[in-house]
Amino acid sequence: MRLVVEHGDITTATTDAVVNAANSTLLGGGGVDGAIHAAAGPQLLEACHELRRTTLPDGLPTGDAVATPGFGLPATWVIHTVGPDRHRGQTDPALLVSCFARSLDVAADVRARTVAFPAVSAGVYGWDADEVARTAVATARSWADANPAAMDEVRFVLFNAPVRAAFEDALATV
Ligand code: APR
Repeated sequence: MRLVVEHGDITTATTDAVVNAANSTLLGGGGVDGAIHAAAGPQLLEACHELRRTTLPDGLPTGDAVATPGFGLPATWVIHTVGPDRHRGQTDPALLVSCFARSLDVAADVRARTVAFPAVSAGVYGWDADEVARTAVATARSWADANPAAMDEVRFVLFNAPVRAAFEDALATV
């Protein structure tokens, strides 16, 4: 499985799936969440409301992931995951590992072969970009070892230069 780091806007990613840094309500927000909902269109919010009415009545737990169609996005799928929020005392790295691992599980479940990730939790949720980058790269690599041939490519799509640098470093050192 190839790991690629790039600077860009995840809403334009042409991968089979893009990962959304959502919150537990699944009903939108700012940052990546706001951008993905704006680009996907109102059907994405409706699909999330349907999840809340059916399989996820209490919302999506931190560290878990769930797929919806991508609607207006180039990507076929959106994989929503909820990162740990440092400002609410969620400092256990295992929660962040779970976001990346469960998102890859869900991507494989929907037969995606390429998936784009943002720097989950490195924005509003207050985690250090270096820690997110190291966790993301290490988790993707161990997931690939445990799931050979299940995924062709993971792209880390970073919105600003310092976060991109953190991921480039992690790719070279982890
Ligand atoms: N493409 C790629 N990366 C982006 C984009 C974009 N269009 N917009 C923002 N980012 C980057 C941010 O700069 C940050 O590095 O994604 C990273 C994650 O930031 P957030 O979107 O704030 O996500 P997170 O820290 O996980 O906080 C999630 O914020 O938007 C709300 O509803 C969301 O409550 C949830 C919380």
